[in-house]
Amino acid sequence: MHQVHRSIRGRGRASMSRRPPQCTSELCVLILLVLGIIFQAQAKSSNRSRTPAPPALIVFGDSVVDPGNNNAIVTMAKCNHPPYGKDFVGHQATGRFSNGKIPSDMIASKLGIKQYVPAYLGTKLSTEDLLTGVSFASGGCGYDPLTSELVQAISMSDQLKLFKEYKNKLKEIAGETKTNSIISRSMYMVITGTDDLANTYFTTPFRRAEYDLPSYIKFVVESASSFLQELYHLGARKIIVAGISPIGCLPSQRTLAGGIERECVTLYNQAAVVYNSELSKEVQRLNDTLAGSRTVFVDMYTSLLDMIQNPNNYGFTEIARGCCGTGIFEVTLTCNRFTAPACEDVSKHIFWDTYHPTERAYEILIRKLMKQYKSFLN
Ligand SMILES: *[C@@H]1O[C@H](CO)[C@@H](O)[C@H](O)[C@H]1NC(C)=O
Repeated sequence: MHQVHRSIRGRGRASMSRRPPQCTSELCVLILLVLGIIFQAQAKSSNRSRTPAPPALIVFGDSVVDPGNNNAIVTMAKCNHPPYGKDFVGHQATGRFSNGKIPSDMIASKLGIKQYVPAYLGTKLSTEDLLTGVSFASGGCGYDPLTSELVQAISMSDQLKLFKEYKNKLKEIAGETKTNSIISRSMYMVITGTDDLANTYFTTPFRRAEYDLPSYIKFVVESASSFLQELYHLGARKIIVAGISPIGCLPSQRTLAGGIERECVTLYNQAAVVYNSELSKEVQRLNDTLAGSRTVFVDMYTSLLDMIQNPNNYGFTEIARGCCGTGIFEVTLTCNRFTAPACEDVSKHIFWDTYHPTERAYEILIRKLMKQYKSFLN
């Protein structure tokens, strides 16, 4: 885009230097028109940049937004080894559950905050890191406390404890007043719930013994609501709450329950639709009842399902297998450079391993969502 603009401008100048500045030819009129459009676009974008970016992006949730917290704890859900991170800067396996950046990084960049949201645990964070936000997310967790217990991830309530500790660190750095201002003006992002349904409910027997599907969904939505209310009471005011993806189409679930053809599991997708609808209603209710809060439910299901159903529109050719190894079962420890190296062309895959999208799929998803929820994000 930039190059096109520049060359048109260049041509405009050259022709003006040879002749008096009269606009007679069609080309000249066209150039003036294009310049006008560019000028307007620039005016608009400088208008937009007048809305101040939130000072920080603060993230809670599971592997979709865990930049490496799990590196610092004892858990099976780790991926700080190649080929994870093969397309990340420096090919580092940071603990992100993908081949490159993850949604929290992308959103922080698009909000103009920073390029990467670091993990709160496991690395030495600079003052700047702390002031502009961190992620407490932990791969394998869910709103259901049993979900994190099953893989020893950091539970959502423990993530809130870490958030309290983080607030105290901010106070030491920036003082009470500035901390309160950062906490109340920041953007918060909460993404979890996939593992509650896909793992805890459908794959292990524990919860199915106690709950039928509708009552389990109700239980998870109530847990989500308690989490969000507590987050509000700790000072958060602007919160993005993501729903879950079409979990029946995750390569792992195709393998486990999709039959010999590894089809999308209809029941699981239906469960995701019901869950998303219930969660969305609850988020709307919280938005209306928690004074001064702005909370939005973000639908990832529709966009991801469209990518899976119409891969050609996005340049994908492989929708049912992860890029790692055979793509049928590899995730975390089983996705490793010794027994399961990365595929040839990751850009053709929606999924990186059997649970997590590739960086490219995440980018497409986030671009769509940024457009769809523009008014909230600006
Ligand atoms: C959420 O609440 C705010 C007021 O706090 C309101 O401006 C906004 O429209 C609400 N959002 C929705 C989707 O109802």
